[in-house]
Amino acid sequence: MSASLTDLLDELERFGASNDASTAERPRRMLNITRDTGEFLAVLVHATNARRILEIGTSNGYSTLWLAEAARATGGSVSTVEFSAFKRELAAANFARAGLASHIAQIHDDAGRVLAGAADAAYDLIFLDSERGEYCGWWPDLRRTLRPGGLLVVDNATSHAAEMAPFMAGVRADADFACSLVPVGNGEFLATRLR
Ligand SMILES: C[S@@+](CC[C@H](N)C(=O)[O-])C[C@H]1O[C@@H](n2cnc3c(N)ncnc32)[C@H](O)[C@@H]1O
Repeated sequence: MSASLTDLLDELERFGASNDASTAERPRRMLNITRDTGEFLAVLVHATNARRILEIGTSNGYSTLWLAEAARATGGSVSTVEFSAFKRELAAANFARAGLASHIAQIHDDAGRVLAGAADAAYDLIFLDSERGEYCGWWPDLRRTLRPGGLLVVDNATSHAAEMAPFMAGVRADADFACSLVPVGNGEFLATRLR
């Protein structure tokens, strides 16, 4: 990773921490993943050679930068979904600063609508970091749009365990998926679609 991208990620971590500590209004909070989660996502992209990556929940693009830097190496790209125009503009500026904009497609829409309109097996890797109450309703489209052998990664599996429990139980009950809960950052729930 270049020194300039490292510096930008450091800056975004400081910004996210100070902004979220001083802002009670949820739509204005960045709610970024932790640095070790970013490192973990990058390793997963490299290890699985993921090229078609979907992120649900861009915020200001901190997690997208980790995914996109890895996608550059695999020859892939990241489509990232965010319905807040405010956050989408922050993210666009960060993607340009990182020199990664050409590896990122920003989708300004509701994630449920994006998932419903996506083709079967469209994605190698989906990173889900959005409104947890929607996940069970999104599951049929998440499972449909993930290719066989593809990987779903879901943030906040341990930090919000009670909220996540119905979703994780539903995925674990699906015989077409193998799952694991990984104690990185806020807890990452992994589910791979069996071939
Ligand atoms: C936890 S934040 C994402 C943080 C980001 N992944 C990161 O680590 O930098 C969740 C984001 O999902 C967005 N969001 C919530 N529900 C959504 C929906 N139905 N469609 C699109 N975006 C949504 C919110 O506006 C918020 O910016």
